[in-house]
Amino acid sequence: MTGEKLYIVLMGLPGRGKSTLAGRLRDAFRKDGIPSRIFNNGELRRIYLPLQETACSEFYSPENFAAMALREKFARINMDRARAYLRNSGSVAILDANNARRKRRATIERQLNDHPILFIECINDDEDILNLSIQEKIKLPEFAHLKDKAAKEFLKRIEYYKMIYVPLKVERNYLRVDSLQNMIIEEKHSDVIPFYERLRDYLVTDEVKNLFLIRHTETEDNIENRIGGDSKLTEKGRKQAIALGTFFKNKKISYIFTSAKIRTIDTAKAISAMQDACRIISLKEFDEINAGICERMTYEEIERKLSQVFKKRGADKYHYVYPEGESYETMKQRITQGIKKSFFLNQQAENIMIVGHQAVNRMILSHFLYRREDDVPYIYVPQDRFYHIVSTHYKKLFELKRYN
Ligand code: F6P
Repeated sequence: MTGEKLYIVLMGLPGRGKSTLAGRLRDAFRKDGIPSRIFNNGELRRIYLPLQETACSEFYSPENFAAMALREKFARINMDRARAYLRNSGSVAILDANNARRKRRATIERQLNDHPILFIECINDDEDILNLSIQEKIKLPEFAHLKDKAAKEFLKRIEYYKMIYVPLKVERNYLRVDSLQNMIIEEKHSDVIPFYERLRDYLVTDEVKNLFLIRHTETEDNIENRIGGDSKLTEKGRKQAIALGTFFKNKKISYIFTSAKIRTIDTAKAISAMQDACRIISLKEFDEINAGICERMTYEEIERKLSQVFKKRGADKYHYVYPEGESYETMKQRITQGIKKSFFLNQQAENIMIVGHQAVNRMILSHFLYRREDDVPYIYVPQDRFYHIVSTHYKKLFELKRYN
């Protein structure tokens, strides 16, 4: 271990995934044996001030000088604590707050001048994600008293922060990251930053502790061998879904991500029914490959009536685009987006579950498991088993397991 020490200062508008990122970084550093701790201003605010007051948007108005003074005070307390931490046993102190004003960041630079500071700006302008994460945030106890006004208040809080927001520019060292894509957009370093390579690596890796990748259970179309469509589960499919629920009963699943199709949602419903608190989030990104003019046909019908389609697809299944539909290749972008969205929303939960379709699950598997493109459309995705995937810096696991 080196004697190197580092301050990481997060910045960004509310709801941009700063705290999730802070947690990811802290865990990754700790796993590498580098003592790391988070100093979160919001936590102090929640401890010392009445929640009724600080959940309201007015607390964040740039004209509310009394509240601003309080927020500065909490920021100072955390700066002092972070400094003391690095003076003692700590190696990486992560300051988690909006830090939207240049003035605040200048104070941080003045106060924390004993070790390098790396600012990380979190950006994410995806409206869907913002709305979904606001829906999650307002479930916290501090918003309870606001009832149906909570989302509006949170949006207003964001507007107030936008009024004072100044992006990173003059700071000596910074990274601007797309916190949905786990992508570095811009970087600047004027000082030698300890742990820089590994930190960059932590930022851009889609880490997953436990991903349970499930294919929807048997449907009416499945027994007739029809592709696509939006059919319902059969009696056997419903039993399989209940068996899945029983299998996962003792694992904590906070979210199940599905496509927008009935068959994945109904499979997920049976699983969530056996959980304490589990939400189903349906993402169109996980809809099955669009077979265009072949939707709801059987493979035999396609061979008979559209022999050219059948032949061409057989010759190059990964790249073949169904007329008026998709190919595996053209699905890739939306599937990647679905993975990013679900990981963003799942935050730091240990387990994440996706209920998808045959082609969709092949693409999700290929996101984590290297496969030649030609082989992706043939990955085995049965309905009586599921994939358990672990993909971290230390462990890669792909296990096909029975649930029944
Ligand atoms: O047959 C079930 C299904 O999910 C269809 O809806 C879809 O078109 C197909 O699997 C995808 O698999 P393949 O690419 O092997 O045709």
